[in-house]
Amino acid sequence: MERIVEIERFEEEENYEITLRPGSWDEYIGQNKIKKNLKVFIEASKKRDEALDHILLFGPPGLGKTTLANIIATQMNTSIKTTSAPMIEKTGDLAALLTNIEEGDILFIDEIHRMSPAIEEILYSAMEDFRLDIIIGSGPAAQTVKIDLPRFTLIGATTRAGMLSNPLRERFGMHFRMQFYTPEELAKIVIQASHKLEKPSEEKASVEIAKRSRGTPRIALRLLKRVRDFSEVANEAEVTLKRAKYALDELGVNSLGFDEQDIQLLQLLVSAKSRPMGLSTIGAALSEDEGTIEDVLEPYLIANGYIERTARGRIATQKSYEHFKLSEINKGLL
Ligand SMILES: Nc1ncnc2c1ncn2[C@@H]1O[C@H](COP(=O)(O)OP(=O)(O)OP(=O)(O)O)[C@@H](O)[C@H]1O
Ligand SMILES: [Mg+2]
Repeated sequence: MERIVEIERFEEEENYEITLRPGSWDEYIGQNKIKKNLKVFIEASKKRDEALDHILLFGPPGLGKTTLANIIATQMNTSIKTTSAPMIEKTGDLAALLTNIEEGDILFIDEIHRMSPAIEEILYSAMEDFRLDIIIGSGPAAQTVKIDLPRFTLIGATTRAGMLSNPLRERFGMHFRMQFYTPEELAKIVIQASHKLEKPSEEKASVEIAKRSRGTPRIALRLLKRVRDFSEVANEAEVTLKRAKYALDELGVNSLGFDEQDIQLLQLLVSAKSRPMGLSTIGAALSEDEGTIEDVLEPYLIANGYIERTARGRIATQKSYEHFKLSEINKGLL
């Protein structure tokens, strides 16, 4: 069964995500530091009539990396070509992409940590010298072909900055780490989206959805859509707080937006008392890939003070112990 607070995008969601995707700085809520910096760099490069420096965006899924890349293109008045690293299998694939772009265009490569080493090697000179060095043929007949490229901007996005090689990372002039959104920011995103969906939400209902969205716009929008369904079936013109609470409870969304895996992880650490637990032990207990735990599950829990990373492993914080004690009391188990 799909989890309602699942962060990764579901296939069928792509359409409405595109409809709801902000197209301007004003609609792009939060990430204020990144926005402030980018506005300066964009203005400067426009004044100099130069392509923007290469940009690396990293952070957990659903925080707005793809959206941001598209806004940058709009602001630069350039076109954007979008691909993802696993789709670039052969050097010819990369060559085809790069020889089809124009001066100042943006090439957006998603999941850039999944680039194969051979392709990465070619990307180095493309990024640094705007030149393609490709080898055609093999053995003694092999020839290096050099192709000059227009000055373009590469925007790379990754959920796993730790997996990027140093040479690649260093070739990006700007690095931006996406932050989790505050409930206030998420509430604004929900209100904005509910207007676009032509289903207004009471402010309190938007705040309730925001609180349960794990700091992530993608989850907030998903919850809004489901809550809207409940309102529609009840023939209500507006999403009310009462309906939102009812729907979210029906959907089994925790009041802190935790999903089952968050809860499993926290319970595991709480049950270990204060003994630090290593990533491999956690991975085995949750039947989950260690990388996913580190880059998708943990960041939100760490950012909100529920767990800590120590040199010897992960531990639950006082806040986690209190949370679980409270939820046991609420369930009448203590
Ligand atoms: N700052 C924001 N303001 C308003 N809406 C946002 C913002 N960031 C993201 N969203 C909404 O959340 C959805 C998911 O964002 P997006 O696809 O850009 O995330 P992502 O970081 O690229 O995720 P992934 O790592 O899975 O590719 C978007 O469709 C957009 O509607
Ligand atoms: Mg994306």
